[in-house]
Amino acid sequence: MNRIFSGVQPTGNLHLGNYLGAIRNWVRLQNDFECLFCVVDMHAITIWQNPKELSASIREVTAGLIAAGLDPEKNIMFNQSQVSGHAELAWIFNCVARLGWLNRMTQFKEKAGKHRENASVGLYAYPNLMAADILLYKATHVPVGEDQKQHLELTRDIAQKFNHDTGTSFFPDVEPLIFDTAARIMSLRDGNNKMSKSDTSDMTRINMTDDADMIAKKIRKARTDPEPLPATLKEFEGRAEAENLMGIYAALSDMTLDEVCAKFGGGQFSTFKKDLADLAVNVLDPIQTRMRELMDDQASIDAVLRDGAERARAMSAPILKEIHEILGFVRP
Ligand code: TYM
Repeated sequence: MNRIFSGVQPTGNLHLGNYLGAIRNWVRLQNDFECLFCVVDMHAITIWQNPKELSASIREVTAGLIAAGLDPEKNIMFNQSQVSGHAELAWIFNCVARLGWLNRMTQFKEKAGKHRENASVGLYAYPNLMAADILLYKATHVPVGEDQKQHLELTRDIAQKFNHDTGTSFFPDVEPLIFDTAARIMSLRDGNNKMSKSDTSDMTRINMTDDADMIAKKIRKARTDPEPLPATLKEFEGRAEAENLMGIYAALSDMTLDEVCAKFGGGQFSTFKKDLADLAVNVLDPIQTRMRELMDDQASIDAVLRDGAERARAMSAPILKEIHEILGFVRP
């Protein structure tokens, strides 16, 4: 059986990279798979979070997912901390994963930076918790942006080692689902850096909560180069900012990059940027309106999360029980 699990951190606003790289694909997949979508609050606290802001962010991200088109009845939507099996299985995986594997994780290196000795142990073990998220439900497919690829390879390694060590074929092989368009949306200020919640400058990203004026301003100020827009894919060489903006246009309009080149190639950035801003506002506006309505009704957001957690607990309980049995834990 095919089952999808994916997650998003509630650390600040959802941005266009989250939407185009992941959430929009989740919306498209929800009809063909049994899906769990998780607001990963325990991943968020691997870096210190202000508790009030974290609570607000968990609800806001949930509202964003529903507003983007995820159906909370059809899918299981919940926040990670409410299903204790995630933490339990993560501990088991701490005992399966090898230090050498985690030492290779580029995201830890990026996030810890020069302050490695001062990073939390949680930040280091982060990928083990992510493997637990997925395997607690024996999920088979994980739709994510390109930046999560290495973590999913580690998930596969953990599953295989667990199976090998226990002489079982308990965990399935996990397939990443990374789509060609928008797998990696870059910063508006630097085409070689990914658009990210943790970038200190808000001008680098389009937040799902930005109003039309702010979206237009950020696109107007986005970094470009002095040449006319590329007319073919070959002309993107050395022009990361042009590729990123035209890629965003392609993703938002459901066109291919080739088609966007044919439409705008040879033209000026100023005209293209106006079109891009209009398109972004048109796509995001209905989502934002719905998100604001949902945010005004906190009780219904909480009800979605409560119901999702109940269903996630029920789905994971027998799997966790079997894991205990395989490991030899006595359940008196
Ligand atoms: P997070 O919260 O950083 O991002 C959520 C999703 O958005 C994608 N994404 C992007 N896609 C394209 N361009 C970008 N600039 C961009 N920025 C973010 C991410 O790839 C992701 O799919 N570790 C995960 C959360 C997680 C998870 C999981 C995911 C925890 N457990 C289990 C899948 C399965 C993360 O930090 O995502």
